[in-house]
Amino acid sequence: MRLKNIASLLLSASLAITIVGCGASSDDSTILKMGTNAAFPPFEYIEGTEIVGFDVDLANLIAEELGMELEIMDMEFNTLTGAVANGIIDIAVAGMTNTPERRDSVNFSEGYFTSKQMIIVPDDSDIKVTDDLTDQTIGVQLGTTGDQFASMYIEGADIVRFDKGALAIADLLNGTIDAVIIDAEPAKNFVAAQDSLQILENPFVEEEYAIAIAKENTELTEQINDALSTLKENGKYDEIFDKYFEKVE
Ligand code: ARG
Repeated sequence: MRLKNIASLLLSASLAITIVGCGASSDDSTILKMGTNAAFPPFEYIEGTEIVGFDVDLANLIAEELGMELEIMDMEFNTLTGAVANGIIDIAVAGMTNTPERRDSVNFSEGYFTSKQMIIVPDDSDIKVTDDLTDQTIGVQLGTTGDQFASMYIEGADIVRFDKGALAIADLLNGTIDAVIIDAEPAKNFVAAQDSLQILENPFVEEEYAIAIAKENTELTEQINDALSTLKENGKYDEIFDKYFEKVE
């Protein structure tokens, strides 16, 4: 059952890439093609028919700095680095953590946001600290650092991989899984919408979100890093930061 789910996730991931690939044949250099996975509030999520969020605002500002027009494609999170490496998209901006494994296939810009992984459990859960996760059923988003962490460090964990964090939360609410491991800001977002869930204090290491760019595209990496420092200096980064994060913490 679970294997079948994963297989169908992978299938839909490759379909997503195929469809996106068809529309992305333009070599118009004034268009900056961004890939994301719009199921990660407040970084990227769907509002009405639009993809919005911190990453979208940031990418728009960067495109503006570069004199380019931003075009956004929504795809499965675990297909993003491949899409960057294959040139289907120019950049992935998706709350993506800069990890050594991903650096094998893509370059990363300077970091633009510091985060960490959090554990979400029901209010009445017996899980109080990370060690209590041993032998539990844990929900993660497929291919994320939460998935990696759970797979590598939690003994005897039964890991259930979802294609969206929100689906993991739904299963946590109906009792199918015992805990969810996901990044701090989406965790706060998901839990804020529920009465019966809590976020545990967490011992996990910090992660740095960065923009993924094709390895051979060193010029774009430089341009993006320049744009990021400009936006940090001229206060525009702080503006969008305040827009999405002032209410939290
Ligand atoms: N920061 C985590 C990672 O890089 C999760 C990112 C998930 N992002 C998303 N747009 N769904 O693996």
